[in-house]
Amino acid sequence: MAVEPTQNIDTLLLEERTYPPPPEFAAQANAQASIYDEDFEAFWDREGKERVTWFEPYTELYQWDRPYAKWYLGGTLNVSYNCVDRHVEAGLGGRVAYHWEGEPDGDRRDLTYGDLQKEVAAFANALKELGVKKGTAVAIYMGMIPELPIAMLACTRLGAPHTVVFGGFSADSLSARINDMGCEFVITQDEAWRRGTTVALKKIIDEALQETPGVKGTVVVRRTGNDVPMTEGRDHWYDDVRGSDDPASCPPEPMDAEELLFLMYTSGTTAKPKGIAHTTAGYLVGVATTHRYIFDLKPETDVYWCAADVGWITGHSYIVYGPLCNGATSVMYEGTPDYPDKDRWWSIVERYGVTILYTAPTAIRTHMKWGPEYAQKHDLSSLRLLGSVGEPINPEAWIWYHEHIGGERCPVVDTWWQTETGMIMITPLPGVTTTKPGSATKPFPGVDAAIYSEQGEEVGPGGGGYLVLRRPWPAMLRGIYGDDARYRETYWAKYGDVYFAGDGARVDQDGDFWLMGRVDDVMNVSGHRISTTEVESALVDHKEVAEAAVAARNDAMTGQAIVAFVTLKGGGEGSVEKLEELRNHVATKIGPIAKPANIVFTPELPKTRSGKIMRRLLRDVAEHRPLGDTTTLADPTVVAELQTRGAEEQSRED
Ligand code: WTA
Repeated sequence: MAVEPTQNIDTLLLEERTYPPPPEFAAQANAQASIYDEDFEAFWDREGKERVTWFEPYTELYQWDRPYAKWYLGGTLNVSYNCVDRHVEAGLGGRVAYHWEGEPDGDRRDLTYGDLQKEVAAFANALKELGVKKGTAVAIYMGMIPELPIAMLACTRLGAPHTVVFGGFSADSLSARINDMGCEFVITQDEAWRRGTTVALKKIIDEALQETPGVKGTVVVRRTGNDVPMTEGRDHWYDDVRGSDDPASCPPEPMDAEELLFLMYTSGTTAKPKGIAHTTAGYLVGVATTHRYIFDLKPETDVYWCAADVGWITGHSYIVYGPLCNGATSVMYEGTPDYPDKDRWWSIVERYGVTILYTAPTAIRTHMKWGPEYAQKHDLSSLRLLGSVGEPINPEAWIWYHEHIGGERCPVVDTWWQTETGMIMITPLPGVTTTKPGSATKPFPGVDAAIYSEQGEEVGPGGGGYLVLRRPWPAMLRGIYGDDARYRETYWAKYGDVYFAGDGARVDQDGDFWLMGRVDDVMNVSGHRISTTEVESALVDHKEVAEAAVAARNDAMTGQAIVAFVTLKGGGEGSVEKLEELRNHVATKIGPIAKPANIVFTPELPKTRSGKIMRRLLRDVAEHRPLGDTTTLADPTVVAELQTRGAEEQSRED
């Protein structure tokens, strides 16, 4: 979160309240205190054997050729086999894998592991028939319907790496990802439901495919049933190409441990998103292990709900691969939390008897704003554990969650991790850790996290600095797709021998970690990573914009909000219409999630004498703070003007 870490870290008041694990919870927990004493290699070796089923066992636990790691070398396995078939073979075909709830009232579907096995086989056969085989890259652009995990699993069954693009991204974002990965096929749906209206996913695909010469075909799942244009020879309705659902007709492809499983694109400090590469075995072991211990999963009895979107890493790791590998029963919900009313989530918890809920601080704050009465209308007594992810959770939100949702009986696990880490890295273990609202507490067993100063020295208890990871972990990214130099530069150049996460953090006297947000030009809006440069490029792409700079300000609801400073060509003045036009332009270029909340129109941006935009000052203006040091400014009158304009900024909220 573009902040000066020292300033932020020094002024932070530490939360004093502590919550030891309830004794009854501790007594039955999957992870006991001794888990922290285990040797790192012995730990990951045991988990490698217990969490997944191998076709060929691995012969070497890991290799660390910094900055690249390999795990479970020599082993072969298949992800769809591990997530589906083996559970059916173990006699669990009748267990529900997903209680799926569509947004329209009464739209529900339960899929057992047996159903899932058939659906995955049918989808994989369809893809195979169209020409997808081991190594064919596939893009998936869908809403939260069962066919999304089914399509992902079908790809893994064939050994075809996928990239799932979140349904809120624009055609431009989509084509950039499709081209970067070299996708040959795209899986989508006619339209998605969102807050009672439809999102035209297929139409956006059609636009994206104008720019993607490598795409040979699409598969379109019917969701709303409305008419959408289909291109003869390229587009196929899933109903027409669905294959045999006999799993034996489509055996899972044995994959080498280190073969590519998927790419997940994420924002960095430049305009071009990074294709974060995750491979097969280490990723699967990492997500299954963390899911089991951190969420204390009892697959026979728990009903687990991660309320994220499958289009982000949280959904990949903790809606699809981790829970299915562990044979969990999950809830999957298609729509928004306030449709048809603000108690929708709590009605879902009650209906399915959800025992574990995992969501983001931004969602918790939204529920907080709506008030506890919506939760009080429902019986939430089935809940026994709560989780949080995506951004630092403010203590008030933590306490509200604990009290109003968890009835003060559920441990809260605040989990820190990233698209790059693949799995949760810093987190309480619910039966072991004494939690503190706002702290993600301790590194997961086997994870070596530390705080470094700017100079690369480890900072002791009480100190603040940058979060680093010093030892490889199974689900660690295997690089940025096709860009070794950027991988080294982004994560390894700062300190040379440790992974630089890009987050500011401090560690307290008990060794608990407190995450402070991003220290680079990456913003975190509602738990979504968006780069300032990406939004700036989208703004400058507009024909009337001469120059743009973007900063984040703190926002009570979304964590951070985007403030853009824009200079129009020919010294044009801004207006409410221009503001709307620019916001929509950003939505078209990147997606609605990246729309600036505010735009300040200004004849000039504050620059140093060498022409560098002084972002620090823009952040001060965005936050309505007194300005810091302005002595290096080329023209000091610019900021005075900006401050006046910042106070009268044109603002809109979605
Ligand atoms: C932030 C999401 C504080 C952090 C899984 C990180 C957090 C970025 C937490 C990764 C947390 C995530 N406390 N900050 N519990 N969880 N973050 O790649 O800045 O979408 O670097 O992965 O989110 O976001 P990403």
